[in-house]
Amino acid sequence: MTRRPASVTVRVPAKVNVQLAVGGPRPDGFHDLANVFLAVGLYDEVTVAPAEELRITVAGPDAGQVPADASNLAARAAVALAARHGLEPRVHIHIVKHIPVAGGMAGGSADAAGALVACDALWGTGASREELLAICAELGSDVPFSLVGGAALGRGRGELLEPLETGGTFHWVFAVADGGLSTPEVYRECDRLRGDTAVPEPEASPALIEALRTGDAVALAASLANDLQPAALSLRPSLAATLAAGTEAGALAALVSGSGPTTAFLAKDAESAQAVAGALAASGTCRAVRVTTGPAQGATLL
Ligand code: C5P
Repeated sequence: MTRRPASVTVRVPAKVNVQLAVGGPRPDGFHDLANVFLAVGLYDEVTVAPAEELRITVAGPDAGQVPADASNLAARAAVALAARHGLEPRVHIHIVKHIPVAGGMAGGSADAAGALVACDALWGTGASREELLAICAELGSDVPFSLVGGAALGRGRGELLEPLETGGTFHWVFAVADGGLSTPEVYRECDRLRGDTAVPEPEASPALIEALRTGDAVALAASLANDLQPAALSLRPSLAATLAAGTEAGALAALVSGSGPTTAFLAKDAESAQAVAGALAASGTCRAVRVTTGPAQGATLL
């Protein structure tokens, strides 16, 4: 019999949407997207170990904001994998959280992808990449990308991925806001603000994809776009001051990350990123500042 490990730890990255083109609402309530994801080097760590029953614990400064029960997407990932393989999800999932909670950086999705890969290794279920991706897509629109990382174009509701080439390292600063924003609320606000105006089919920008491919930060900055940004700003007007503070400090461009309220600043190089971070921290317009780079690897066994 194969020996099973006593515990398994998986590292999973956050994401920023360098382009988020949002179509009109679909009959199922979701929106068709052209969603260009870039994984960045802020990570959660998910550790799983055998237990009497499914249990989840969370550590980190914002652990209190994360549900530590069966509703947690990581717990749902373990249940989904176990069900497919006729197992009971008797596992303790421990999450060390560094990705902002409800921040528009796919932290919950990252934990789900991490738990899935970790449980697969712990239980020896040997799920194929396709099976893992299918479970990810059932769990949430952003979960497949958390598994694969790097850069990718997400079609459909974001779950149909096409990997994208990246030609270098991009330097990012993230400003973490106080409190989170609810993704469904931000989509609803986007629909409300659009009213009756016709919404075009969401299309990925060829200039943006080329900028990623060549590693050209200036060109990428010129193409960054987030259709959810007006909605996030409408729900959280104070984000405008954060965006302005980063731009004034020399960021090439600033945008809301996904549904927010984390804001993202693309910098020319590592030195400029430090300067932008310092200015944001001093501006009093955000709760915390993180400096990192992208692309980053997807879910990785440690
Ligand atoms: O797929 P996920 O559970 O992450 O989506 C959360 C919510 O965000 C959905 O219930 C929906 O309200 C909204 N959403 C959407 N269109 C998408 C992705 C998410 O309307 N493509």
